[in-house]
Amino acid sequence: MSAIDQRELLEMVADVPSWWHSIDLGHDIVTPGVKTVEALESNLLAMQLPPLAGKSVLDIGAWDGYFSFAAEHMGARRVVALDHYVWSMDLIAQVQHFHECHAQGRKPPQWEEVPSVWRPDELPGKRGFDTVHRALGSQVESHVEDFMIADLDQLGTFDVVMYLGVLYHMKDPLRALERLAKVTSEVAVIETAAYAVPGFEHQSMCEFYASDELNADSTNWWAPNLTALTGLCQAAGFDRVKVLVGPGDMRGMPAGEVQRYRAIVHAWK
Ligand SMILES: C[S@@+](CC[C@H](N)C(=O)[O-])C[C@H]1O[C@@H](n2cnc3c(N)ncnc32)[C@H](O)[C@@H]1O
Repeated sequence: MSAIDQRELLEMVADVPSWWHSIDLGHDIVTPGVKTVEALESNLLAMQLPPLAGKSVLDIGAWDGYFSFAAEHMGARRVVALDHYVWSMDLIAQVQHFHECHAQGRKPPQWEEVPSVWRPDELPGKRGFDTVHRALGSQVESHVEDFMIADLDQLGTFDVVMYLGVLYHMKDPLRALERLAKVTSEVAVIETAAYAVPGFEHQSMCEFYASDELNADSTNWWAPNLTALTGLCQAAGFDRVKVLVGPGDMRGMPAGEVQRYRAIVHAWK
């Protein structure tokens, strides 16, 4: 890349008002995401993705696309990045509105109800994905769709489906996992907010957030414990579930005290 191209690239990155993923574009340019390169690399390792060479991959809830572009880099034959929610939002307006609500002691609304934030015709939140796509000369396909109402016959099936950081945003997690199972032909990699209660590990339980109790985010609804997550995947149509990251050793922890963490499982068809 010539010096002018590199300057253009810096301008393109600076033009995107809000980044979630820090993505290395080469030439010493990394997008300034909330999630650091180190955190993302460590997430990717923890997911233990199967070999992707020649595989089809669907990344549901792709946002800036770190995991989609990583799958392409790992040799996937076809990668589809699907999202609609943050892609439809003006993320700067959202943060402003959030702080105003906080200052006034008001509960943040559902963002679809705020016209200054929700702009699905313009897709302001997709600018980061589009910028990286162009910078990398990527062939990743982007689908602007709500996975919960997308036509799954039209979407088709994928060898590997990534469902990272999405499940706890679903009002109906069982239906979401049923839909996930329908589009998965081999394995779904699920990363989610989860919780554990020492002494109750074998009970199947989900924690419900009526408002913004989880991370001050009113779009978070449910976190399962590991028994519930495994059971939900099986009820949804997956054959077998392998836990990669669970709550760890809870011996010595006070019985009944809620522990929140992020779980990772592979759900196999
Ligand atoms: C916490 S972010 C996770 C982003 C990325 N997968 C990661 O792990 O860094 C949740 C993502 O899910 C997307 N999302 C939420 N509900 C969705 C739905 N019904 N269909 C498609 N994407 C959805 C959001 O827009 C957002 O990009």
